[in-house]
Amino acid sequence: MADLPSDSSARAGSTHFMQQCSSCHRLDYDSRGQPSRGPPLGLIFGRLSGSDLHYSKYSEGLLHSAELWNSRNLFRWVKNPAHIALKSNCKFEPLDSDSQVFDLVCFLKELTLANYSLIRSMVVVGHAESEASGRQ
Ligand code: HEC
Repeated sequence: MADLPSDSSARAGSTHFMQQCSSCHRLDYDSRGQPSRGPPLGLIFGRLSGSDLHYSKYSEGLLHSAELWNSRNLFRWVKNPAHIALKSNCKFEPLDSDSQVFDLVCFLKELTLANYSLIRSMVVVGHAESEASGRQ
């Protein structure tokens, strides 16, 4: 069966992520785990730039940028971080084409959605467990 376009984009984007971004970025929710050079990107979509409370190494430029990480701004960032923050420490080999950048943005969006539904199901399970054991 043929994949929906967004699914195949996200799959291609995950390959670009592994090649170009994963040396510095993890895909989990926040930076409380193992330290990495860049902030984690697991819930990046819909977040404000420079707003991971557990990441302490943001540049001044990104801290003051106050952009929303929607598709457009992620696209601009991956094209060139200087579109959003001058002198950012996010440095990577440019992707070959706009369609690769688009795929990578699709991947980051799908990843955020998947992580939110995972978190929501953990909250529901946690709630059910505490009800079952009589805890409040
Ligand atoms: C050499 C390490 C490195 C690589 C490779 C890298 N980044 Fe980054 N990234 C960083 C650092 C460090 C920051 C924080 C930048 C700052 O504060 O200026 C960052 C910040 C970001 C942010 C902003 C996060 C926030 O919390 O606002 C996004 C989005 C991002 N990177 C995406 C990517 C993507 C997508 C790739 C791959 C195409 C990539 N990065 C590759 C190091 C890296």
